[in-house]
Amino acid sequence: GAPVEVDISNLKPGEMMTVEWRGKPVWILKRTPEMVASLKQTDGKVADADSKRNPEEFTPEYARNEHRSIKPEILVAVGICTHLGCSPSSKFTPGPQPSLPDDWAGGFLCPCHGSTFDMAGRVFKNKPAPDNLQVPRHMYAGETKLVIG
Ligand code: FES
Repeated sequence: GAPVEVDISNLKPGEMMTVEWRGKPVWILKRTPEMVASLKQTDGKVADADSKRNPEEFTPEYARNEHRSIKPEILVAVGICTHLGCSPSSKFTPGPQPSLPDDWAGGFLCPCHGSTFDMAGRVFKNKPAPDNLQVPRHMYAGETKLVIG
């Protein structure tokens, strides 16, 4: 498939957009400073904090860091659960998300078997999903122009 170009200049902190790449939903989340800071708290609670599992498949080299991204505030991740392929919910997905408990601070929660992921798409410990959400190959072609693929 061809790379997908995305203009993210209108994305505000705390907002997420979804684009399609190779038939998959790709989330682009602009994290607030609080969301970035939350990754320090979840470091000890996630199963693979440094994205060492299956790095070739799930995490390009430039995203093998705490925030799993090139720019700390911008997360680019495939919105498909690494367990059996359901679509996780989040507070950032437009529309009501009935599977989210009221006290859910987020990241992402998979409604199928309850896997939860932090603000960097890192899976929490003791969940059915074996891996962090996939970070697709991507780069910046300008300050606010993202190329996925
Ligand atoms: Fe997401 Fe099973 S498919 S937890």
